[in-house]
Amino acid sequence: MKTLLSGIKPTGHIHIGNYLGTVKNWVELQDKYACYFFLADLHALTIKIDPKELQKQSFDLAVDLLSLGIDPKKSIFFKQSDVVGHTELAWIFNCLVPVSELERMTQFKDESAKQPDNVNAGLLTYPALQAADILLYLVENVPVGQDQIQHLELSRTIARKFNKRYGKFFPEVKPVLSPTPKVMALNNPIKKMSKSMGPASYVAIRDDKETVIKKIKKAITDEQGVKNLLELYSYFGNQKKYEAMFKDYKAGKLMNIKLKEELTISILAFLEPVQKRIKDLEKNPGLVQKILDDGTKRAQKIAQKNMSEIKKLVGLK
Ligand code: ADP
Ligand code: TRP
Repeated sequence: MKTLLSGIKPTGHIHIGNYLGTVKNWVELQDKYACYFFLADLHALTIKIDPKELQKQSFDLAVDLLSLGIDPKKSIFFKQSDVVGHTELAWIFNCLVPVSELERMTQFKDESAKQPDNVNAGLLTYPALQAADILLYLVENVPVGQDQIQHLELSRTIARKFNKRYGKFFPEVKPVLSPTPKVMALNNPIKKMSKSMGPASYVAIRDDKETVIKKIKKAITDEQGVKNLLELYSYFGNQKKYEAMFKDYKAGKLMNIKLKEELTISILAFLEPVQKRIKDLEKNPGLVQKILDDGTKRAQKIAQKNMSEIKKLVGLK
């Protein structure tokens, strides 16, 4: 079976943009690949975050992902910082990757601009840790959003440099793009739906009924906005109703109120079972921890074996 790996930072609750852009794809890929999914808590440290908050957000993200369909029976699911190989390999990659390549990364430039008083070295070497996440398990496929392609390209460059210097060990990494295009912000549909755009821009999977109703009611309905709402309906709604509304939209007859009402109903129907699973898992934190511990054991075994080979190649052993 082909292998695949992806991670997500515990920096807030999952919203429907994250779900459609990433998590939905992960859930579906679990049947076709041997998968590794992890909480990228070390990457979250590049943003100033309170320790208690980081711990809580990691737990909440684990609950969110399990509730959305990440299945520990099918996939290896763990927390990045629990498997020591990630940081070990990241250091080796730090010693291979030119600073100039790191400085070119769009995410580094964007994040530095967002937090000018906290341009830490971790922000710069973030892609070396990401390359380590991927290459530690020798996986070839990485499902990511468009925004991560540059980092994957750098992972390939790092693997090539390593193979050239120390002998061929790492495979070529390929992105697996999600079939869902970017979801746009409800309150500003020319921008992407994002935590950094504020809560009015998204529906979080933990939002209660009243909040969902309010947020969709307030959604902007200019040309881009209506397109975005219709597209959201195509993912959450009924196919026949979608086709009928799309026809009305093309004919200039679609009532925004109707679109919003139908979309609200469809999102609430999607959220109901997810939120029930969230509630059940929250009542059982021991189970969540056990799932992560089991995942860590499985990941650690493979990581240890590969790190041992890598250390020999590099001369550390
Ligand atoms: P946010 O922008 O809300 O902080 P992150 O940057 O943490 O989200 O992204 C987590 C994952 O969700 C990434 O894989 C990213 O590609 C995907 N993603 C985030 N926002 C969207 C969106 N609006 N549409 C589609 N995918 C998204
Ligand atoms: N950088 C990714 C993001 O911001 C998260 C991530 C960390 C990741 N390590 C990874 C994604 C390895 C894929 C593979 O969304």
